[in-house]
Amino acid sequence: MGAIEEPGLSTFRNSAHNAEKWTNERVLSIRYWTPTLLSFRTTRYRSFRFTPGHYTRLALGAENDLVWRPFSLASGAYDDFLEFIAVLVPGGAFSEPLGQLRTGDTIRVDKASYGFLTIDQLAPGKDLWLLASGTGLGPYLSILRDPAVWQNYEHLILVHSVRHASELAWRDDIAKFPEGEMFAEAKATLSYLPVVTREAGATALAERIPLLLADGRLEAAAGTALDLESSRVMVCGNPEMARELRQLLSRRRFTTNRRSLPGQMAFEKYW
Ligand SMILES: Cc1cc2nc3c(=O)[nH]c(=O)nc-3n(C[C@H](O)[C@H](O)[C@H](O)COP(=O)(O)OP(=O)(O)OC[C@H]3O[C@@H](n4cnc5c(N)ncnc54)[C@H](O)[C@@H]3O)c2cc1C
Ligand SMILES: NC(=O)c1ccc[n+]([C@@H]2O[C@H](COP(=O)([O-])OP(=O)(O)OC[C@H]3O[C@@H](n4cnc5c(N)ncnc54)[C@H](OP(=O)(O)O)[C@@H]3O)[C@@H](O)[C@H]2O)c1
Repeated sequence: MGAIEEPGLSTFRNSAHNAEKWTNERVLSIRYWTPTLLSFRTTRYRSFRFTPGHYTRLALGAENDLVWRPFSLASGAYDDFLEFIAVLVPGGAFSEPLGQLRTGDTIRVDKASYGFLTIDQLAPGKDLWLLASGTGLGPYLSILRDPAVWQNYEHLILVHSVRHASELAWRDDIAKFPEGEMFAEAKATLSYLPVVTREAGATALAERIPLLLADGRLEAAAGTALDLESSRVMVCGNPEMARELRQLLSRRRFTTNRRSLPGQMAFEKYW
């Protein structure tokens, strides 16, 4: 597990008011899970609002050459900080300054939040499948930090596919979610299914998610059938994975939200 830099709460400060569409926030802590995968917390502008599953935009770089990129919120909607998970892409315009980011630095955050990977995009259901590759885990942390989700579903199934076991960010915390005080009265149970694809034997499931879904192994591991009546599915991360899963689920008659008519599946592609 990576090193954690955590300053005292005394460093927490609200952003100054401004008429812009963004605020300057302070980096409170940074955690490196691997040399190229990190999560970080920032202060939160007190009127910043989002729905779990949303993303906002972050900017880094020189004042006259800022690079803006969308990032999903991993923190709970009620937390007084914002949290993000990010991969460092070699040569990436945002990744370069992100790799230099230190606790106490300033990062620019859009005042608005966006996106359709939210529970309200889905028709009511019993089982919620949260399928992620890599940093696509982020929005699901926010969703799983929402007590309403634990009340409204019976079974939450989180599937996180990564190349190496070290990239299973928050692995221990996720496994302990159901024990959390906030979820003590919860109706739902959580099945956490990590998938490591490039390290034989690291996890029971070791193939890409679309294949595991197509051949029934994902349903067997979750102990739950994926069906149109009771299952709702979210997919986040690699666009190729999203495309394959959309095809697979469409064949099972799953649809996305259309003209405000809630569907059975929702997608967020990261590139
Ligand atoms: C709605 C939305 C939400 C996003 N949320 C997150 C998030 O929470 N965390 C995060 O790390 N990224 C997220 N991204 C991607 C992020 O915005 C940047 O693309 C990423 O940080 C790399 O930026 P860059 O400028 O260094 O490289 P870019 O020029 O933006 O990307 C270069 C290449 O890197 C690869 N790449 C980009 N992002 C990722 C990724 N997340 N995982 C694996 N490969 C990637 C792709 O091959 C891409 O073509 C999100 C993207 C979108 C559209
Ligand atoms: N992860 C690393 O070791 C590493 C190290 C340095 C830099 N990077 C950079 O980070 C980016 C990749 O990040 P990442 O590893 O988080 O994302 P990723 O390549 O999308 O891989 C994450 C998970 O998604 C799976 N996956 C990939 N394509 C898929 C598809 N079409 N359908 C279903 N599943 C699929 C991968 O399986 P497979 O293993 O089968 O592909 C892996 O389990 C690249 O830009 C790379 O340059 C990564």
